[in-house]
Amino acid sequence: MDLGTVPAAWTKRHLLDVQNLSAEEINIILDSAVAFKEATNNCTQKLQILAGRTCANLFFEPSTRTRTSFSLAARRLGADTIDFSSSGSSLSKGETFIDTAKNIEAMGVDVVIVRHRTPGTAQLLAQNLNCSVINAGDGPHEHPTQGLLDILSIRERCGRLEGLTVALVGDIAHSRTARSNIWGLKKLGANVIVCGPSTLVSKRWEELGVEVAYDLDEILPRCDVLNLLRIQFERQSTRPFPSVREYALLYAMNQERLARAKPEILILAPGPINRGVEITPDVADGPHSAILEQVTNGLAVRMATLWLILGGNS
Ligand code: CP
Repeated sequence: MDLGTVPAAWTKRHLLDVQNLSAEEINIILDSAVAFKEATNNCTQKLQILAGRTCANLFFEPSTRTRTSFSLAARRLGADTIDFSSSGSSLSKGETFIDTAKNIEAMGVDVVIVRHRTPGTAQLLAQNLNCSVINAGDGPHEHPTQGLLDILSIRERCGRLEGLTVALVGDIAHSRTARSNIWGLKKLGANVIVCGPSTLVSKRWEELGVEVAYDLDEILPRCDVLNLLRIQFERQSTRPFPSVREYALLYAMNQERLARAKPEILILAPGPINRGVEITPDVADGPHSAILEQVTNGLAVRMATLWLILGGNS
């Protein structure tokens, strides 16, 4: 791929979700990510492809991976970065969210990367700012770059997406990662199962064309990939199961379950992981796990996204 010119089929100024990306656009992001990974020696070296551009992180929720990954991706491509945190900002003095974003934009920002607990926040900014906007997670709605890096990690390890069976296991109800994965995986031809306790997995997910399952042991032998989602206690008003121990007994990926899975099964987790809850430490750190590869692929997907959104080096 020629990293000097953005593909003509890419016309978007914002990345707000995966739902509204076509299969062609998803493949452009994935292929660009692979090209950036190669051109930067596995995301370790710099390219001056976005020199003179400025990227602003506006994070209103905690983050380790996404925030640092976007900052590093921007700097790897020669862009300047601004890191805004709501704590310690003038929001506490009564400034509105939109005014805060407009003031950051007025510093000469080309793209705002926003994370917020309210669904639709990235869309709202795209309507109110002149610069580009990337959604870094809006409540339980979508986390497009996480979905895309998960899909890239599957394609890299399995060599394809078409026909694979991918199970998303855990707290589906509150997971923006689940939604972004479902839209992307379905568009690229994978079969998707959502699996977890009935309090966290509604039958209505079937309306998105996915299979709904409540028994991990029943679906396990059919799965090529498991993506283990964290239980998001911070988004729940009541406990969705009697105890974490009971959840782990029914849904944690452990060595005993690994022995009953396909020999080449791939284990993903978007992170942060809770060791001993959705995954045991030996599986998280074992050969089937691509958890840290996902983090590296996150850098590649975010380099590709910034490059595409900002129209390359033009
Ligand atoms: N996976 C993910 O979004 O991680 P962070 O919350 O640390 O950014």
